[in-house]
Amino acid sequence: MFVNKEIIVNEINSLNKAFFELSDQVFKLSDSEDLKKIYVLTNELQRYIEKHIKLEEDFMEKINMPNMQSHIIQHKFFVQKINEIKHELEYKNTFVLNNLSTFLKKWHILHINTSERQYKEILYKDR
Ligand SMILES: [Fe+2]
Repeated sequence: MFVNKEIIVNEINSLNKAFFELSDQVFKLSDSEDLKKIYVLTNELQRYIEKHIKLEEDFMEKINMPNMQSHIIQHKFFVQKINEIKHELEYKNTFVLNNLSTFLKKWHILHINTSERQYKEILYKDR
């Protein structure tokens, strides 16, 4: 099946850039009681993961990516985590910012740096 690698690489790079910008905004929030701002950022993170899932899961399916299920489980975990954080915000839990920051750092290391490397090797192999 035809996969336009250039388009996929560009889209992945642009999604990762969006993720890093959102993460930076979360890390810079010094006032953990600014719940409205955290809520806006969690909504943007939700839109980020929806695009991330659509792009990657379509692509991984097309190339029959080995171990695709473990990558998909991580996507589901991100969705679940953001939903939990939004739920905590409804109860004005002021510890939510720490929770979100820690989760985003782990996502960077374990998902973007590690899991994505598996399909990037396939993508870059023939470039
Ligand atoms: Fe992913």
